[in-house]
Amino acid sequence: PAPGWSIDADVVVVGSGVAGLTAALRCEAAGLTTVVVTKARLDDGSTRWAQGGIAAALGEGDTPEQHLADTLVAGAGLCDEDAVRILVTEGPDAVRRLIETGAHFDESEEGGLELTREGGHHRRRIAHAGGDATGAEISRALVEAARARGVRTIENALVLDLLTDADGRTAGVTLHVMGEGQHDGVGAVHAPAVVLATGGMGQVFSATTNPSVSTGDGVALALRAGAEISDLEFVQFHPTVLFLGADAEGQQPLVSEAVRGEGAHLVDGDGVRFMVGQHELAELAPRDIVAKGIMRRMQEQDAEHMFLDARHFGADMWEHRFPTILAACRANGIDPVYEPIPIAPAAHYASGGVRTDSQGRTTVPGLYACGEVACTGVHGANRLASNSLLEGLVYAERIAADIAASHADNGLLARVPHPVPHPEVPAHPLLAPEDRFAIQRIMTDGAGVLRSADSLARAADQLQRLHADAREALVENGKTAEPGVDTWEATNLLCVARVLVAAARLREETRGCHWREDRPERDDTDWRRHIVVRLNPDRT
Ligand code: SIN
Repeated sequence: PAPGWSIDADVVVVGSGVAGLTAALRCEAAGLTTVVVTKARLDDGSTRWAQGGIAAALGEGDTPEQHLADTLVAGAGLCDEDAVRILVTEGPDAVRRLIETGAHFDESEEGGLELTREGGHHRRRIAHAGGDATGAEISRALVEAARARGVRTIENALVLDLLTDADGRTAGVTLHVMGEGQHDGVGAVHAPAVVLATGGMGQVFSATTNPSVSTGDGVALALRAGAEISDLEFVQFHPTVLFLGADAEGQQPLVSEAVRGEGAHLVDGDGVRFMVGQHELAELAPRDIVAKGIMRRMQEQDAEHMFLDARHFGADMWEHRFPTILAACRANGIDPVYEPIPIAPAAHYASGGVRTDSQGRTTVPGLYACGEVACTGVHGANRLASNSLLEGLVYAERIAADIAASHADNGLLARVPHPVPHPEVPAHPLLAPEDRFAIQRIMTDGAGVLRSADSLARAADQLQRLHADAREALVENGKTAEPGVDTWEATNLLCVARVLVAAARLREETRGCHWREDRPERDDTDWRRHIVVRLNPDRT
């Protein structure tokens, strides 16, 4: 359908986590008319689920150089060092500005920020809030600030596609809005700058720490718009996710790295600390190494999970330092004060995404990306713990500055033909909502923590069959699923899953969080490079 309504803005920000709302607040402060569109409610994305915290060289004796060094080691040879330098040098001030915006972080008895450790960090440099509810506090503060400053928002708005003008420049987005008063049904926000801050794609797997809205919408939109996508094979599996049974599906409760940062031990069924001796940092090794250590021990012992033992914290510490995790465990019948917590790795974070430069610009003029949807180059093959909230903050600020500067220099708005012609919303073959579960099972089976040429080939075939069926139904019978959030989400999941599997098949080595059983070694001769994908517009 052609859009039934439209509004104009200088900037449209898609997504309302730390990256989206920071970008929106800064654009608004620079005098740009900004509209935030978000698929569910303003605080429904991944940000509010972040537990451990936000990493920055804020502690005495810590420096951006040390943060840089830890980030590069975790990234396993694929970080863009300039991008990381920006992150770690601008990070501390970005956190201070977040505090000025209204976020309250936990303080030590001396009154400074209380900092914790997580995997891969050689120092305590993780600021946290509410013990283990950092993301919820950041989300609260940013949502309140956006409301207080009158940033225009449209909730329940699923972004469909990018609009471009005759020169291929960004001209806005089409949206499917459900039940939001005057903006209902398919419509468009016309704007010369679009910021994708749509978060991750964890829902491409059966078990994930991501909320149900994390369906890769931004990457799918960018692919359809012809933007470059990079590093999609590097999906990070968080080592310690509460194990709720081998068949558990959907969002699973996270048990933060910070629990290990405060001294919890990983043990097997016999109570043996199996990470000791595997890495100098033992349980606090970078995340990919800990996830692999857990998976290996599970294979050796034919076990479905391992355990995280923090009984020695005692009830007081559990209640004050980790109230969210304590509540999640107890809600599932486990009391970590008295028993070890069953854990197993689950999909957590997309280290790759829409490729950007240091200003957050994608390869489509006027289209920006920040936060988990982006691939700025800071994460390489494996993101360092608690660098994601920081990346969202730092790069969102850079994007706002870039948009404001282009607006001032070029009169960005004046160059967009107005009104922008409405292209037909492309006739994508839409998947049925239940295809989501088929995709998740295929991906968990074939492209999960452990991958091989065979498992990936099987996954590619199965995904191709789903795609071919949907396409055939459309082309031969003119039939497609009824457009709606569920069908678009399933369609986007298939789109990103196919690209992820294609990239994982190409990378014939093991590096960072990409673990190929059939190619167990890192290969710096052939593979110290990125896989960049751009969709051929003639072949969907
Ligand atoms: C955690 O708290 O373990 C998650 C931190 C992160 O993903 O960076």
